[in-house]
Amino acid sequence: MKALPVVHKVADESWPTREEAERAMLFSEVELGPRVARRRTWVPAMVPWRATEEGMVTEQVIEWYARFARAKPGVIVIEATGVRDVASGPLLRIGHDRFVDGLSRLVDAVREASEGETLLFVQLIDFLSIRRRPEREKFFARFLEVTRAHRERLAERDGDPAWIDRDERDVRAALSAMNDDSLRKTLTERELEALEYGHRERVTDTHLPHVRALPEVLPSLFASAAARAERAGFDGVELHYAHAYTMASFLSARNTRDDGYGTTFEGRVRLPLEVLAAVRAGLSSRAVLGLRMLGDEAIDGGTRIRDASRFAVEFAKHGAHFISVSKGGKFEDAKQPKVGHAAYPYTGPSGHECMPTVRSDERGPFGRNLELSRSIRAALRGQGLSVPVVGAGGINGFRLAERALAEGDCDVVASARQSLADPDWFAKVLRGEGATVRRCKFTNYCEALDQHHKEVTCQLWDKIREGDPELPPHRISADGRRRLIAP
Ligand SMILES: Cc1cc2nc3c(=O)[nH]c(=O)nc-3n(C[C@H](O)[C@H](O)[C@H](O)COP(=O)(O)O)c2cc1C
Ligand code: SF4
Repeated sequence: MKALPVVHKVADESWPTREEAERAMLFSEVELGPRVARRRTWVPAMVPWRATEEGMVTEQVIEWYARFARAKPGVIVIEATGVRDVASGPLLRIGHDRFVDGLSRLVDAVREASEGETLLFVQLIDFLSIRRRPEREKFFARFLEVTRAHRERLAERDGDPAWIDRDERDVRAALSAMNDDSLRKTLTERELEALEYGHRERVTDTHLPHVRALPEVLPSLFASAAARAERAGFDGVELHYAHAYTMASFLSARNTRDDGYGTTFEGRVRLPLEVLAAVRAGLSSRAVLGLRMLGDEAIDGGTRIRDASRFAVEFAKHGAHFISVSKGGKFEDAKQPKVGHAAYPYTGPSGHECMPTVRSDERGPFGRNLELSRSIRAALRGQGLSVPVVGAGGINGFRLAERALAEGDCDVVASARQSLADPDWFAKVLRGEGATVRRCKFTNYCEALDQHHKEVTCQLWDKIREGDPELPPHRISADGRRRLIAP
């Protein structure tokens, strides 16, 4: 990625008095379908990598969310939680009944810490498989499927038709010995990607039976997961239709599936609507059902705000109780990972749009994506739909949040990294103590930890210093160097 030219400053804020804060829209109620959030403050999904390798809730997961809950935001959305019962590292899972007990303890802890004032949703995710970038030798020896096209290319190169029938090991060795230029002419785009980035499945890989079957299996997987969430005591669920994952890929303008679940606007939105309907049918009328989607994929050939607004209208007409808007965060423009690592969707330009930093263009990171939530909200209101819209992206202070609400950019303000930097920030502002807020630097130290699947912490509070009171072992990161919970 080209170096971005402008380094922005986190501007000083003129914080409100307690009286002003108490009158503010930010701290007013908002209806979310059948429930009312007491405030328009929202902690969006953030994966902290604290679950067990089996996807179970740990004490660290519980403490992490209880810490946010102490400030009593209107809503906390629990991190992306897998709807399938498959190994996915220390990411929470909800694909089987055995996950319900742990999640239920998590719900109880948040209720207690927020004194019942925070609504708690869980973000439900499905994702396709992605492999680590392989060592070159291994790729040619084992992973690459040798095809006739490879043999023909070698035959053409050497003017030797014998390559068509040569032993496969010879073909592999010859390919492995090629320089990059020749490889570019020999391998397909996908094969090259598998070599240089690691193999990544797409929703358009309909030659793979499990990918072709996604429209058959996903509605019931999401519906069962949502029903478990309700059983665990969550107030609702947020379907993850954003970023680099399966449902966003169905919505993508790059979805060329030809089985009625791609290509056209109606085709792309079909499975997301079927999932929404299945989830709705499995939840009680008290449960909130919302979703997170992209206002812009921010990649070449991706969905732009025009289609995104139409999608949002469809979701609202089909009963979504809120629409949370994000941007980018795609694999298509991710940086090349090191050998042995997997590509990560927040490393390229679309990743920057998702989690903008102070190293940015003229517009900078603050409230950067509000124009998207604003357009989506306007499209909904234009159709007479009052579904609340959640805005996010660099929202780091009271004035920006309040202006976004007052000017119709969004109905609810989500702030991820500012809440990580200071989980008490909403409460401090409401008490008229804004001057004591620890302000996020927007340099993405936390995101780098996330990228390496290390426990996420914030540079502003995670140093263990000499003279600190001793921390219990479960509050120290696996590398032994960082405290896991904000002081
Ligand atoms: C460490 C980390 C993990 C995240 N995990 C998720 C996630 O699980 N699901 C999701 O929709 N967004 C995720 N996000 C994106 C945030 O929810 C949010 O949209 C983004 O950080 C921009 O908001 P902000 O500027 O307030 O941080 C994550 C962000 C961070 C920093
Ligand atoms: S690590 Fe940096 S970007 Fe992340 S929350 Fe803390 S200050 Fe903000």
